[in-house]
Amino acid sequence: MKKSIASIFILFLFLGCKSTLTTIPQKKGLVTEHAMVVSAREEASKIGIDILKLGGNAFDAMVATELALAVAYPYAGNLGGGGFMVYRQSNGNIGSIDYREIAPLAATKNMYLDAEGNIIPNKSTQGAMAIGVPGTIAGVFAVHEKFGTLPIETILKPVITLAKKGVIVTSKQEARIKEYQPLFRKINKDSIIFDRPWKTNDTIKYPALARTLERIMLNGKDEFYKGETAKILTQFIQENGGIITEDDLANYKAVWRTPVVFRYDDLKIISMAPPSSGGVCLAQIMTMIEPFDLHKFGHNSVKSIQVITEAERRAYADRSHFLGDPDFVNIPTDSLISYTYLTERMSDFSFKKATSSQAISHGTIDIIESDETTHYSIIDQFGNAISATTTLNGAYGSKLYCSELGFFLNNEMDDFSSKPGVPNMFGVTGGEANSIAPQKRMLSSMTPTIVEKDGNLLMSVGTPGGSTIITSVLQTILNVHEFNMSMQEAVNAPRFHHQWLPDEIRMEPKLFSPTTINKLKKLGYVINEKDSPVIGKVDGILVLKDKGLEGGADYRGDDTAVGF
Ligand code: DON
Repeated sequence: MKKSIASIFILFLFLGCKSTLTTIPQKKGLVTEHAMVVSAREEASKIGIDILKLGGNAFDAMVATELALAVAYPYAGNLGGGGFMVYRQSNGNIGSIDYREIAPLAATKNMYLDAEGNIIPNKSTQGAMAIGVPGTIAGVFAVHEKFGTLPIETILKPVITLAKKGVIVTSKQEARIKEYQPLFRKINKDSIIFDRPWKTNDTIKYPALARTLERIMLNGKDEFYKGETAKILTQFIQENGGIITEDDLANYKAVWRTPVVFRYDDLKIISMAPPSSGGVCLAQIMTMIEPFDLHKFGHNSVKSIQVITEAERRAYADRSHFLGDPDFVNIPTDSLISYTYLTERMSDFSFKKATSSQAISHGTIDIIESDETTHYSIIDQFGNAISATTTLNGAYGSKLYCSELGFFLNNEMDDFSSKPGVPNMFGVTGGEANSIAPQKRMLSSMTPTIVEKDGNLLMSVGTPGGSTIITSVLQTILNVHEFNMSMQEAVNAPRFHHQWLPDEIRMEPKLFSPTTINKLKKLGYVINEKDSPVIGKVDGILVLKDKGLEGGADYRGDDTAVGF
């Protein structure tokens, strides 16, 4: 179902004596029989589906969709960033790949601190020093090598054609480009393509990106990591004051990792292991809430919000202390997600009163909410499923754009803990486990997830949203499983978020009943409705009882499901 012809249903919420009208589009998503791709842009979903129609599998379609997002959704889609992908093959085999960025060889623990040990503003978020060594091209080539069935030329040609023909600017994109133009001008020495006054329905062509992709198509991943592209890229980064070298690129490797797997009722949840915190935190939260009857409490009721919030509070406190790159630190994953540990962790929870985050640990911090990563889900006609989340970190990453190569570079270094206890751009703190070291991967919240029920594929789901990723994925799964929503309803439903510190429940504004909010306040919860206009931009696919597929493409963005 196209958004333009989508049915609109109107929800009246009574806020005190005033009534506020909130429209939530699309009750049920696109339903198809065989295959589906849901991503942040219709162009990318369509390219993925075209690959499936040519007889390719979900892994071929992943390569095409990931790179098409780099063309159609430069806000987060990328060649200059990284991500994670979780898969489940039709025979039930599961796995995941980590193509997260790594710190350059010349990185040091205190590289973002001044002589007094204070954080240097913007150094880990803007410009060349913020860049981690990109992983996306290594990731898609590793996936293609292991599981691909179509030639790489067949997969990349439509992406290159899209870059040459150009992509139509949406109204949301027009607003985003305008918002970030002052930073593009501040960070880039020369004018870049996004400096122009782009308007809705204009077409932006990407000839430089098309040339880069053509070279990658001909020469493979070595083009990006060792070839002409590597040389241009490192020279460009260094001219802009960065420290990434040709050795950094040549040494980069994507890593296959064993996913985090856990049960919730009759569901088996398969999610991303460290260096993403996604799977561990999701497992902790879901295990802590499992003993409570959320279905009986009701969707977004006071009791449901309390239970979920208290589990989130405890999981995010653990995230901050224990999690980092498993190749550098020992992570007690099994203990962290064990029933015994989590029962004990939740034992001081009471419905009578909010737990204080200070009682769990301490610190005073602020969250900055955003949605600049991107997620896509694919289920193919053979029954293979993938769930992939990819990012430049902030909006347009470091804002540094290599015009000769046609892409933005990430600012993923900010996901490290630059100084213990000091929050990053998502307001999350960390300690030694996530400190900076050469070639170390920075901790992520990305939570690409696949759900099985009774041994069969049920769902592929994920989202952008920085630290709110984990809690958005959680709520989407619960919406389907506990509250019997369709995939699209589950994606569209109002979301809230708690991350231990700051000690507040963020809520999407004007979507939660004032009675609920007042009751929560009386119990001691701080409610913040003003700082997160949007929490997550979830894309997912649900396998229906008749084996059809329902897409959930988040109305909060330009996200679109395409299928057949
Ligand atoms: O890996 C992470 O957790 C972050 N770099 C994700 C960034 C993100 O989701 C941006 N959008 N909010």
